[in-house]
Amino acid sequence: MFLIIVGTGAMGQIIRECAAADGDFEKIVMVEPLENNWPEEKADLLIDFSHPESVRGIYEYCRIHRGGIPVVIGTTGHSETEEQLIGMIEKICPLVRKSNFSRGIEAINHIAVKGKEMLPAADIRIEEVHHTKKKDAPSGTAKTLGEILEVGEESMSSLRMGNVVGVHKVYFALEDEEVEIVHRAHSKRIFAQGAIEAGKKVVSRKRNNLT
Ligand SMILES: NC(=O)c1ccc[n+]([C@@H]2O[C@H](COP(=O)([O-])OP(=O)(O)OC[C@H]3O[C@@H](n4cnc5c(N)ncnc54)[C@H](O)[C@@H]3O)[C@@H](O)[C@H]2O)c1
Repeated sequence: MFLIIVGTGAMGQIIRECAAADGDFEKIVMVEPLENNWPEEKADLLIDFSHPESVRGIYEYCRIHRGGIPVVIGTTGHSETEEQLIGMIEKICPLVRKSNFSRGIEAINHIAVKGKEMLPAADIRIEEVHHTKKKDAPSGTAKTLGEILEVGEESMSSLRMGNVVGVHKVYFALEDEEVEIVHRAHSKRIFAQGAIEAGKKVVSRKRNNLT
């Protein structure tokens, strides 16, 4: 399988390490969006963990190759125009997009819904902590939790400090008591592996549909 990784930053490097160890990828090319160094050849899978502005280049690459390339987007913080470009990618390519590819956050998304059901009177608050290099705030994960729990950004708080990989907390505060659900990411590897797994699933679904 030929894999293109869009983004050569912290996440791009970890995805390359994980993909190289995976054994399913005969060829791995890293694209640095700021250098626009796209390969000629059509990829079997494209994984993007870079910057919101990269979606324009991703769309162009997919369009030139007549679509049909499974695309995984892990990048967060897209503007409305960039969201429209993602919509255009989705029209021509199978797309998986998650603000957080870890298994723990997948579970928290479900647990938090249960919390809201059981504690309808509670004040719900979301708190997230990340490393100082993170560009968007609140995090994409906090925004997703906010959508699920119907909580606006005024009920979220963000802290940027040190090299914290990612902490997300959901509070349910009642009179005289409080419930707290917390997820701590200890390594960026969990996101890389989740994204590769999700991408491979789409590739195999696509292959099964073709045979
Ligand atoms: N979905 C998830 O599970 C998950 C997990 C971790 C990180 N992320 C997201 O992945 C993205 C990348 O994270 P990172 O830690 O690797 O960041 P990073 O800063 O280390 O790397 C960013 C990459 O984007 C490129 N870039 C910078 N400015 C650009 C621009 N204007 N246009 C195009 N490209 C540009 C950089 O050159 C680099 O290749 C972020 O959006 C982050 O929020 C998502």
